[in-house]
Amino acid sequence: MIFSIGDIMIDAYFSLPGPLNPRTDTRGCIELVPGGSAANFAVWVSRLGAQSAFVGRVGDDFLGSGLKDDLVKEGVKPYLARDPSLGTGRVGVLVSETGERDMVCDRRANATLCEADIPCDDIVALASWVHISGYALFEAAPRAAARRAIDVAVRAGVPVSVDPSSYGFIRGVGAEAFLEMCRGASVILPNLDEGIVLTGTDDPEQIVSRLSNRFPVVALKLGARGSLGVASARTSNLVSAEPVDTIQVDTNGAGDAFNAGFVVEYLRGTGLAQALRRGNELGALAVSRRGAR
Ligand SMILES: Nc1ncnc2c1ncn2[C@@H]1O[C@H](COP(=O)(O)OP(=O)(O)OP(=O)(O)O)[C@@H](O)[C@H]1O
Ligand SMILES: [Mg+2]
Repeated sequence: MIFSIGDIMIDAYFSLPGPLNPRTDTRGCIELVPGGSAANFAVWVSRLGAQSAFVGRVGDDFLGSGLKDDLVKEGVKPYLARDPSLGTGRVGVLVSETGERDMVCDRRANATLCEADIPCDDIVALASWVHISGYALFEAAPRAAARRAIDVAVRAGVPVSVDPSSYGFIRGVGAEAFLEMCRGASVILPNLDEGIVLTGTDDPEQIVSRLSNRFPVVALKLGARGSLGVASARTSNLVSAEPVDTIQVDTNGAGDAFNAGFVVEYLRGTGLAQALRRGNELGALAVSRRGAR
């Protein structure tokens, strides 16, 4: 079973046909969909036919109940703590008439995920892989929870992947401190911006090569340019995977879908190149759809 640990959210998309009418009503479209990087990953894993579990925290409210029902409907085993006072996490996505997006992120219960929420015994007994969303590493309580999950998995010989998730937040804590938080992970899955902040270079080959000094497997997501990876510290083994042709509708969630494709395929033992290709396929599928899933 592939365990995913981290954020779960309701995404609210506000689409405006034109400019807002100030101080009165504007007609538009509001879509409420399940989201959160780690939860998106868990859902894609399940859709790929692998056993999937999600560990996170929601509020004790109807949004949290709805997200739990949705995970179950998607075939994901939910380990959801209910925060008694903070509500369920939510993201507001303002989509302008030209398709540009501005996001307001309100993490709520995600910020109080804690060590006690980690199902350590089940990870030892059931996990074939543990995936950590970097968003869990930027605040004290969820960081302790993520670290506990990483340590338990590593001791049990279970591979761990980390998606750094946010170059802005990495800048906030510092690259070196962030890399130290990932200690023990065997796979790192950054996008280009995160790779730049983590290594101080903007050359994809250099990014992959530098990260491979710390992580046995690196897969760098390059948006419409596909992906680049290495599965040992030797740069001569760099593997590049061509992007899959797609019509870009909404890039939100492409990284989570890539991660799921990559991890599921890598666990099948078909090798790095095939895992990168599968990641690209899933990423391309995600950008062709509205919403993160
Ligand atoms: N326009 C595109 N055409 C084809 N494939 C794409 C496109 N955009 C993204 N992908 C695929 O999805 C993967 C992940 O996309 P990206 O590099 O944007 O990740 P990300 O920035 O982490 O995404 P997210 O915003 O979801 O966190 C890419 O490596 C690529 O395989
Ligand atoms: Mg990402």
